[in-house]
Amino acid sequence: MNILGINAYHGNASAAIVCDGRLVAAVEEERFNRVKYAAGFPAHAIRYCLKAAGLTLAEIDHVAVPRNPYARLATKILYALRMPSFARERAKVLVKFQGIPEALAHAFNADPKKIRVKCHRVEHHQAHLASSFYCSPFERAALLSADGLGDFASTMWGTGTGSRITIDGAVAFPHSLGLFYSAITQYLGFLKFGDEYKVMGLAAYGHPDQLEAFREIVHFENGSGRNGFKLGLGCFLHHRTGPEMSWAEADKTPTLGKLFSEGLERRLGPARAADQTLEQRHRNLAASLQARLEEVYLGMLRKLAESTKLKAVCLAGGVAFNCVANGKIFDATPFEQVYVQPAAGDGGLSVGAAFYVWNQILGEPRSFMMDHAYWGPEYSSEEIRRAVDSSGLSQKGCAIAELKEPDLMKSAAAIIADGKILGWFHGRAEWGPRALGNRSIVADPRRPEMKEILNQRIKHREIFRPFAPSILAEATADYFEKSHPSPFMTLAYAVRPEKRAQIPAPTHVDGTGRLQTVTREANPRYHALISAFRDLTGVPVVLNTSFNDNEPIVCHPEEAIDCFQRTQMDALVLGDFLITRPAEL
Ligand SMILES: [Fe+2]
Repeated sequence: MNILGINAYHGNASAAIVCDGRLVAAVEEERFNRVKYAAGFPAHAIRYCLKAAGLTLAEIDHVAVPRNPYARLATKILYALRMPSFARERAKVLVKFQGIPEALAHAFNADPKKIRVKCHRVEHHQAHLASSFYCSPFERAALLSADGLGDFASTMWGTGTGSRITIDGAVAFPHSLGLFYSAITQYLGFLKFGDEYKVMGLAAYGHPDQLEAFREIVHFENGSGRNGFKLGLGCFLHHRTGPEMSWAEADKTPTLGKLFSEGLERRLGPARAADQTLEQRHRNLAASLQARLEEVYLGMLRKLAESTKLKAVCLAGGVAFNCVANGKIFDATPFEQVYVQPAAGDGGLSVGAAFYVWNQILGEPRSFMMDHAYWGPEYSSEEIRRAVDSSGLSQKGCAIAELKEPDLMKSAAAIIADGKILGWFHGRAEWGPRALGNRSIVADPRRPEMKEILNQRIKHREIFRPFAPSILAEATADYFEKSHPSPFMTLAYAVRPEKRAQIPAPTHVDGTGRLQTVTREANPRYHALISAFRDLTGVPVVLNTSFNDNEPIVCHPEEAIDCFQRTQMDALVLGDFLITRPAEL
């Protein structure tokens, strides 16, 4: 039984394929068309998934799409009457959704009449919940999905038991934690789609002196037996105009219309323009926003723990990328185990919709757990060799050596320990927005200046944004105050005070690190690299940042070589090749 999940005409368009209950491949469209957060129809991603599974379109039995036009129909009609322009935009997208079988036929040059797949429409948040629970190791778990908006809901919670998900509650449009965070992100002058994580990083530099004001902006609804929240709508625009999202185009990064109102500026003062200097007031506002998000998010989780009496929780939706809030779950709620799959945001909907069909609709038992993130394209040694041969790097004076382990690991670890910046490319591309040791840039965590060097030479991003540590899983408790696994960088923990001076580069200003715990089972080669670095330096940690420069993470070896050439990376490991740049280049 083959199920194709497709997140189309929505941010982070993606595809995933589940064969007999096991995930075979999953990837976002942006990795192929090189458009960050690309929406539209993910034809490249679908083509890759079919190829990875060795299937043709004719061999797909079910297609699962994470959108159900009939969910919350009464609310949708109500808002359609109030906001005709918003309704027209949504209607256009829905027409595209109805045409997914035709879009598939078109992308594969097939006769639409021969596309016989059964198409299932899975409600957005149920697909989010499924993406987490059905990939988790838990037989029973509480479930929470929180994001901006999907099928007119922003939040949903419930319980997963075996192959069944039960929904216990939801928060409907216009109340949304995701849109709250996005609105304040815009107010603080960060206007690009997906900029929320910058504000999360900025928050560590401020004091939450506006927390009371934010408590007026988001009201936590935690009366007897209730869960949820409400926005003070006077501060927002989306309930009046509809959140203007551009979802349809595959060749453009989505944009989001203005979400905050003059009412917010009356309450908090004037908004920051994108080119205005960041002042302490802005840092304090970011800290207050983060503090209020944590109060409501952790409060909802406490209520969920209380009502379900469960100790494990699965999280999904864009808010589940808030690793700072996630790291506080263990102390602030009764939950003892947390699972967040690497594509917790809308990219993950394709996986969620596909498993929803397999487990919830078809009633099949579970036989899969996502314990690593490597579900994307990989390239053979021959393809890598061809990319190296045609790169011209050798003519430019780069030294190119083909090495076997452990020599490759020893050489790579020595390069890092020497303060050099290393591109690190092997195996299958990561699923989700984090580089987790297959498409990474790796550097020495012991050097405080490394953050600035990386920013100047490679990443060109805001100085307040932290870099992340990858640590040997077995050493987590030695360096961090929590040791629950964080294989997908979705949790931030405090670095032990006595270790902060040892790994200053990936330790944030508030003493935390958004860590990746690396096991030999999940990624033997990356584990071997960090082990070699530990053998050399005594430190079982490397700094890990994504292999890119203001673009989607590199996917193909040629893109890695191109990024290596464009930036001032010192060395590149590409499969078994070690390429080192001459000092003068
Ligand atoms: Fe979502």
